[in-house]
Amino acid sequence: MNIKIHRASQHLVKTERLAEIHAACFPKGWQALEFQLLLASAGSFCLVAEEEGHIVGFILLRLTIDECEILTFAVDPTHQRRKIGSVLLASAVEEIEERGGAKIFLEVSDKNEAAIALYTKAGFSRLSVRKAYYAGDGNADAIVMSLELVSE
Ligand SMILES: CC(C)(COP(=O)(O)OP(=O)(O)OC[C@H]1O[C@@H](n2cnc3c(N)ncnc32)[C@H](O)[C@@H]1OP(=O)(O)O)[C@@H](O)C(=O)NCCC(=O)NCCS
Repeated sequence: MNIKIHRASQHLVKTERLAEIHAACFPKGWQALEFQLLLASAGSFCLVAEEEGHIVGFILLRLTIDECEILTFAVDPTHQRRKIGSVLLASAVEEIEERGGAKIFLEVSDKNEAAIALYTKAGFSRLSVRKAYYAGDGNADAIVMSLELVSE
């Protein structure tokens, strides 16, 4: 695997490619403009995974003081199950720690076994359930998961 993880610059990242991957992964895709607006908002940052110069996955986060939220996270379906998601998540956790983050939150559909398995392997635990949260996904419940970062 020759995957490189980069911090996506707000002005240079190809948001059309992020939107393309997102649309391939979720029932309700986000437009490139939505990614541009999110990237421009306070505290947001994005890491992209590139293989031979081509974006194959990304994770978009927002850090507010010491709490970080994973806004979205996706790996191109043709590149999944190659540990790209694990490497992106580990790189994001590292960057959040460097920036003084103490806790990471996320919401995941209770039907999304792949993501729940990945987050659990990375040390996240279940915090609560939001009933019928995903209208576009058969009213699936959202599981809220969190990871406490231990400062040394
Ligand atoms: C979730 C996602 C980002 C994982 O990316 P990935 O690069 O395929 O994941 P990895 O290869 O790093 O997998 C790490 C572990 O997660 C679990 N996992 C990943 N995909 C899985 C699947 N399809 N089924 C079951 N477990 C899975 C496994 O435990 C895996 O370890 P293993 O391969 O040694 O068994 C990817 O499946 C994806 O983009 N899904 C659609 C979008 C999404 O659900 N995003 C998260 C929203 S909260």
